[in-house]
Amino acid sequence: MGDRTLLGIVGSVSADSRTRTAVELALDAAADRHGVETDVLHLAEYDLDTADGRGIDGYAGDTVEALDLIVEADAYVVGTPVYRGSYSGALKNLLDMVPRGQWQGDVAPFENAAVGLVATGATDHHFLAVDQVLRPAFAFFGAHAVGGATYATDADFDEGEIADDAVRERLATLGAATAELAAAVDESAALGSLGPAV
Ligand SMILES: Cc1cc2nc3c(=O)[nH]c(=O)nc-3n(C[C@H](O)[C@H](O)[C@H](O)COP(=O)(O)O)c2cc1C
Repeated sequence: MGDRTLLGIVGSVSADSRTRTAVELALDAAADRHGVETDVLHLAEYDLDTADGRGIDGYAGDTVEALDLIVEADAYVVGTPVYRGSYSGALKNLLDMVPRGQWQGDVAPFENAAVGLVATGATDHHFLAVDQVLRPAFAFFGAHAVGGATYATDADFDEGEIADDAVRERLATLGAATAELAAAVDESAALGSLGPAV
């Protein structure tokens, strides 16, 4: 699996991001266990345009860099802070600029791609946001989202690190599962060609 690039997308605009810590733990486990290359697209580090329906070639600057990272990666671990019971507006804006082959560009980077899903929130109240709001966004793209998402709360962190062993292990397993799903998709003609229904 060594040639595959697993991109962590961090949908937080906070420089000191819990979501980034969680996503990086998953990426590191995938690198350790399966030898994948990893990279991070953290929205705090990019000054993105606002999506307005133009084609992917119409963007400039940081937006091009961010979209190129997505187009060039093979699989993804996508993390978001929960905002108002949903994923962040910054992540929504990014997803609104990613083509799915039919509109805004011929490329469809998320189509048939393995995607691990992560969310962090203040408390347990909104743990279902990752499955009920973020997962459908990737269904829209015809991605293969790993079945078990991972959710962490403020109580799982201590001085910027994830202190809860069960959460650490779950994130590591999610990273490994994403790399393994990417390999399985590559080996399967059916999984690699299904795409979205419409
Ligand atoms: C605008 C805003 C809305 C938020 N809404 C929620 C929410 O609905 N539910 C929740 O559990 N936490 C909510 N939070 C807390 C964040 O999700 C939580 O602190 C998260 O871990 C921050 O991740 P980050 O450090 O990667 O930015 C909100 C935070 C902000 C700034």
